Amino acid sequence: MSFFRLAAQRAPAPDPVEARVNALLARMSLEDKVGQMTEVAIDVVSAGNATGLNHRLDPDKLRNAIQKYRVGSILNVNGEAYTVDHWHEVLNAIQDEVEKSKLKIPVIYEIDSIHGANYTRNAVLFPQSISMAATWNPALARRAGEISAFQTRASGIPWNYFPVMDIGRQPAWPRFWETFGEDPLLASRLGAAYVEGLQGQDYGAPEKVAACVKHYAGYSMPFNGKDRTPAILDERTLRQVILPPYEAAVRAGAPTVMVNSGEISGVPGHANYRLLTEILKQEWGFKGFVVSDWEDIKRLHTRDRVAATPKEAVRMAVMAGVDMSMVPMDYSFYDLLLACVKDGSVPVSRIDDAVRRILRVKYKAGLFDRPRPDAGLKARFDQPAFHEANLEAARESLVLLKNDGVLPLAKGRKVFVTGPNANSRSAMNSGWTITWQGDQEHLYPRDKATIAEAIARIGGTALVNSPAAADVIVAVLGEKAYCETPGNIEDLALDPAQIRLVEDLKATGKPVVTVLVQGRPRVLQTVKANSAAILLAMLPGAEGGRAVAEVLFGEVNPSGRLPFTYPRNVNGYTTYDYKPLENTHDNPVAAEYPFGFGLSYTKYEYSDLRLSADTMARNGSITVSVNVKNTGARAGKEVVQLYVSDLYREISPPNKELKAFEKIPLQPGETRVVSFTLKPSDLQFVGLNNKWKVEPGDFKVRVADLEKQFTLK
Ligand code: BGC
Repeated sequence: MSFFRLAAQRAPAPDPVEARVNALLARMSLEDKVGQMTEVAIDVVSAGNATGLNHRLDPDKLRNAIQKYRVGSILNVNGEAYTVDHWHEVLNAIQDEVEKSKLKIPVIYEIDSIHGANYTRNAVLFPQSISMAATWNPALARRAGEISAFQTRASGIPWNYFPVMDIGRQPAWPRFWETFGEDPLLASRLGAAYVEGLQGQDYGAPEKVAACVKHYAGYSMPFNGKDRTPAILDERTLRQVILPPYEAAVRAGAPTVMVNSGEISGVPGHANYRLLTEILKQEWGFKGFVVSDWEDIKRLHTRDRVAATPKEAVRMAVMAGVDMSMVPMDYSFYDLLLACVKDGSVPVSRIDDAVRRILRVKYKAGLFDRPRPDAGLKARFDQPAFHEANLEAARESLVLLKNDGVLPLAKGRKVFVTGPNANSRSAMNSGWTITWQGDQEHLYPRDKATIAEAIARIGGTALVNSPAAADVIVAVLGEKAYCETPGNIEDLALDPAQIRLVEDLKATGKPVVTVLVQGRPRVLQTVKANSAAILLAMLPGAEGGRAVAEVLFGEVNPSGRLPFTYPRNVNGYTTYDYKPLENTHDNPVAAEYPFGFGLSYTKYEYSDLRLSADTMARNGSITVSVNVKNTGARAGKEVVQLYVSDLYREISPPNKELKAFEKIPLQPGETRVVSFTLKPSDLQFVGLNNKWKVEPGDFKVRVADLEKQFTLK
């Protein structure tokens, strides 16, 4: 056999998806292609004023969208969540129209299923991401992904604008709670697990949906904390802290990426060629497509003023690497992009590249083979196991911040439950729940308990209506539901009226247990000292009421840990990986509660931290082991956290960095040995030349309050 025959035999078999994509592309006109790159909101094809349960499509508008503008995608819900049946009607009507078109290219419908299929009535409503992160349990994020996928596909929808892989380091930002917290490793692990759950091995499988990683990149870092305001980020921080979680989710298989609605150091996300094309598509080899955020291409002209005309804005975004425009309230993008191609300012090769990417995802999502909603899934929409998984996640998300010994409460005690969130389902779920702002309390199913209801039920107690009659007071504080720009605040402190409420309650002499239901760490001020216990619930979702009551009465031993640093002062933002310069004698770091912190009803004791060697070769590794013992009387789950500090490096090193973690169950008296492997790649950092590098030297390893040192050769 000659060498050439061998080589020919080894050539990879042609990829069937690529072959289909190319064959279809060859049949498409320029108008067909530009249409594929256009995404409109469902409002554009709906009868006016018919929102929520009264929603109706408008057949003429739908015909216009599909036959004239050949739109590639439709998104969103107008007003309120629809029933599964209505989603099926909508999706079937769209497909009926598609089948009358020349090329019959299925529309890819998109929804923001960010904590379950929150735009379908009666879907499971999981803890929001910040609470999911507080579980430190990727298996729960994976399960949430699976169930979200199931109920989203059961609604007929194949594409989800989630996960948010923006890092949560700006606590005032109203989308802080959509993140998995401040640490790149924790966020990467949770986000990747969620994508795996959502997509499985194949997002075209009948129970799976395609993920969309957002908002690439740096959206979460507005300098002033307000939504859609400028971020100022250097390349090194971007590479070291901001990009890794997006990359992890892309590597986990997410086939679409949504762009940052803001700007970094003066460059709007939608005009950032370096991020969208050079880093995402070229460096990371991303083969899927990039979608704009809502109306953001237009804003390059109307808001950011980097484009002198709307047409220039379209050219700029498409040439930066945006493949699909969430226009979404008109067809301007279609007309303007056609004009750009006709005058040569956007080459057809760029259009072909964008459309290839879109079609590739449509094929892989199974849309060409099964374009219609699956009635079989609809019949299995609601399953008891889904609610159990949700309850488990809610339980593990609760972080006990303070306990003077008042918790757990004995059953049957008389409780005065008060505070603005004691009877609110919307506060526990917040934005993206049934409506965009999530604040329509009357739309929430009443079968899931509020915190006050669950306290009465689980505590087997009568709620009393005055502090004087009570054994203990539970004050449920925090924030109302909000999302995006409407959630901007001027002051990170808790509402002054709530702070005064706890002062007054404390003055009664009864112990005050504070429960915080909020999307970001509102500064506690006197609430900390005035509370005998503080349970941080953040946004625990539909099962939050029950889970909170179970923890208060000791049915569940809390095991959540902070996924962010809880600030002590409004001007005191910091993160656990602060720089030496941030923690000096005259100017010490002052966090209220540190990243990774959380109490339990039992005690864990760490001992015998050991390294398999005290030097690491450049291509070697070290095993770190530690014994963890439950020395208390209750079973619990402990989050074992491994931190590494680089003692000296060419860039002033962080105080410490999380390099590994594992959540383990421990029975009373039980000891487990937990081992982690550290490799040189865990010790790398982005150096002076903005490239990742490993520098020989000494490193400190810490687990709980134990530490050891080793040298990288
Ligand atoms: C948000 C995105 C979301 C999109 C579609 C935008 O306002 O920034 O996160 O996916 O709307 O609903």
